[in-house]
Amino acid sequence: MPKLFYSPASPYARKVRVVAAEKGVALEVVNAPLSPIARNADVAAANPLGKVPTLLLDDGTALYDSRVITAWLDAQAPSPRLIPDGIARWAVLTQEALADGLLDAALLHRYEHILRPEDKRWDGWAAGQWAKITATLEALEHAAAKFGARADVGTIAVGCALGYLDFRFADKPWRAAHPHLAAWFEAFAARPSMASTKPD
Ligand code: BEZ
Repeated sequence: MPKLFYSPASPYARKVRVVAAEKGVALEVVNAPLSPIARNADVAAANPLGKVPTLLLDDGTALYDSRVITAWLDAQAPSPRLIPDGIARWAVLTQEALADGLLDAALLHRYEHILRPEDKRWDGWAAGQWAKITATLEALEHAAAKFGARADVGTIAVGCALGYLDFRFADKPWRAAHPHLAAWFEAFAARPSMASTKPD
């Protein structure tokens, strides 16, 4: 069975776990504690970048990053298709990239506060990352009106990104300024795949 190195707090790993659940693909999940300044030897042996998620296939092939793994998972079963063909494919993959980009900014913002020594912190850096998050939430608020009942790698990535904001940035509430997105997320977060992977 493929082995997934993950961290319960990692939103990128959560996206992979949600996609695996939606596809019905069984994975052995291995909790791999790490941070940008503390490598995990098992993960680093499979992925020189030392990042989760990393997926080890049965033949020893390592797959990363999360977008490669979600594409691999989608190819393992014909339905449900989480990355569609045709013109919709590019919109869905771009939405996944947008949600992952929000997370990249959120992680950089968080690391500036929790990892960087206090005398080396730079408020302008954190503000620059937060501006990306604000702009992305605004774009998603407009897009959410058309999300409907879609469940694909785009909406799954958005759900995991919003879940991470709730988890790590509860002091920066986003729902009041983004009511359509909030209403969509309330229903989407109730999917069993999302509920069973919620970080706590
Ligand atoms: C976190 O603790 O927020 C985290 C852990 C691993 C990867 C990404 C985020």
